[in-house]
Amino acid sequence: MCHWRPWLESGICVPLRAVGRSKQGFVYRIQNLRFGIKPCIPAVQCPRMMDNMAMDASKEQEAAIERMVRVFYERALANETLGPIFRDAIHDWEPHIKTVSDFWSGVVHGTGRYQGNAYAPHIKLKFEAEAFDDWLAVFQSAASDELAPKDAKEAIRVAHHMAGSFKAGLFPFTDKDGRPSRTPPA
Ligand code: HEM
Repeated sequence: MCHWRPWLESGICVPLRAVGRSKQGFVYRIQNLRFGIKPCIPAVQCPRMMDNMAMDASKEQEAAIERMVRVFYERALANETLGPIFRDAIHDWEPHIKTVSDFWSGVVHGTGRYQGNAYAPHIKLKFEAEAFDDWLAVFQSAASDELAPKDAKEAIRVAHHMAGSFKAGLFPFTDKDGRPSRTPPA
């Protein structure tokens, strides 16, 4: 069984040891991560295996995903914490919206169109761990407003799971006040 490791810059597929099974698929742990953390990775299918297994989504489903992504960015840009992060990082919006729509259409409908590494672009971004709370709140409102209830539920579940993995990867330490930190305590 081959799984994609979203936090590796290379985005390569490697065989991983399954430590359990959930409704969504196998759950894996990485044994030798930098900083020694071992987060569970989301049950995202390996893009190479998905080539032959990719499913179609209807035009309505695709349109709903794109609407959700656009609504997410409208609200994120109006958010005090997220707005400056996105404005600084993204200058060419339409290709980005297409990439992120492909990502969510893969998560929700299994289309397998997104073949990138979702974690890697976040490594260079400068934001505090609390930004994940705003990101999740905005994502949850966009998904609930624009997707069918079942699709929204699945998208929100994966968003929480991946936000947890991203946060553990980007903020592997705890500072003296008990807050997640990018660097070890002095
Ligand atoms: C604090 C939370 C987050 C912030 C501030 C954030 C911000 C960003 C920014 C600025 C980019 C564009 C980077 C670039 O192109 O240089 C990006 C890309 C992306 N983000 Fe996030 N993000 C967050 C969390 C998440 C989470 C939890 C997910 C997944 C559930 C996610 C999925 C993606 C994807 C799929 C891309 C596109 C990657 C690609 O270009 O292949 N983000 N994010």
